[in-house]
Amino acid sequence: MTVAFPENIFLVGLMGAGKSTVGRILARRLSKRFVDTDHEIEKRNGVTIPVIFEIEGEEGFRRREQELLADLAQEQGLVLSTGGGIVLKSENREVLRNHGFVVYLNARPELLADRTKHDRSRPLLNVEDPLTRLRELHAVRDPLYREVAHAVVETGRGAPQQVVQAILAEI
Ligand code: S3P
Repeated sequence: MTVAFPENIFLVGLMGAGKSTVGRILARRLSKRFVDTDHEIEKRNGVTIPVIFEIEGEEGFRRREQELLADLAQEQGLVLSTGGGIVLKSENREVLRNHGFVVYLNARPELLADRTKHDRSRPLLNVEDPLTRLRELHAVRDPLYREVAHAVVETGRGAPQQVVQAILAEI
């Protein structure tokens, strides 16, 4: 689907798909403001995501994420890199779909595991076997990302600039 000059661009996909790196470059290219939901949650709450998970559990984090998305969706001219689990709530999927052009950055779980292997900031990957966890998350969420997306971009081992080009070709 093609939307002419979409005001907001929302990037969705699993952890390690490159949403933040790609989003930052894309925002610069389109002269839009870049926001990363995880970073914004940390900024607004003054604590890290692992601490939010520790104190309030995933449920508390999801509530804060939903509130933030509802808030940011009122803005225009954003490139928003979203947390990988944002599509779990149907309310969020509706907000995303209705307030911007949604791009799903897809990647194979093996690649995602490789990209996130030294990262301790993602509580859901603090498990013995992150690859199995990522395979499970991919199986559950891939249909949800596809449901909400206006465009799907396959990301491989190529440079972020190539992914940006692929997105620009879709919008
Ligand atoms: C999560 C992804 C993370 C962050 C949180 C939960 C998920 O964001 O929101 O750790 O459920 O997939 P990134 O996708 O930016 O890593």
